Amino acid sequence: MKKLIVGNQKSYLKSNEVNDFIAGLRMVKDLSHVLICPSSIYMERYIKHNFITGCQDVSKYPSGADTGELSIEQIKSIGASFSLVGHSEQRSRKNETIEDTNIKIRQLLEEELVPILCVGESKAERDANKTEEVVLNELQGALDDLSTKDVEKIIIAYEPIWSIGTGIIPTNDEIENIISFIREYIEDNYHISGIILYGGSVNPHNIDTLNTIDGVDGYLIGGASSKIDEFIEIINKCTKEE
Ligand code: PGA
Repeated sequence: MKKLIVGNQKSYLKSNEVNDFIAGLRMVKDLSHVLICPSSIYMERYIKHNFITGCQDVSKYPSGADTGELSIEQIKSIGASFSLVGHSEQRSRKNETIEDTNIKIRQLLEEELVPILCVGESKAERDANKTEEVVLNELQGALDDLSTKDVEKIIIAYEPIWSIGTGIIPTNDEIENIISFIREYIEDNYHISGIILYGGSVNPHNIDTLNTIDGVDGYLIGGASSKIDEFIEIINKCTKEE
């Protein structure tokens, strides 16, 4: 069992902490399944050390008059290889729509960068038993008009919004069910199996339990991906070959 690990460092780390983090991560033997999305100001530092590095978000506009944004051409030019898209923090705080997410996915694919699409329901939607409906709408919108060739290059992360940063995670059965729901959608519509991650409060204490769930290809990790000891513990627990 080797799981894909994506570390979303959000805006947690300051410059000197990034140095310590990189030094710690360089001690890890096998990083072939570890992807890092640092704050964009630190990306080149990770790239210089050959970490597989990507962005937490990209602009839907091309390079040019787009103050405060990061274009796909720019991130490609420094050697980034992927970007998160549709993260709930972007959707709720920056009003990203599902159409925006679809545009970003298309443009990333055009530049041969890997989109990591985040989907997941809010607490209110979960309480109203709408998890599948919400996830389905998000998948349909984000993948609108994409071909099988496109979709096979996309990684999907199921991230229940109520679990992000709260320390509360769904039960194993809930995660298994929704991941298999997403996989069925991808199989039925694109005839491929897809790479599907779980994200939301993953930490060294729950990773062993999470690793027992069938069908989870890896994890999108926020808070714990900025704490070097925790991150390394998770990586090691997801590296063992059976
Ligand atoms: P968390 O964040 O691990 O801190 O819950 C996950 C994410 O937002 O990607």
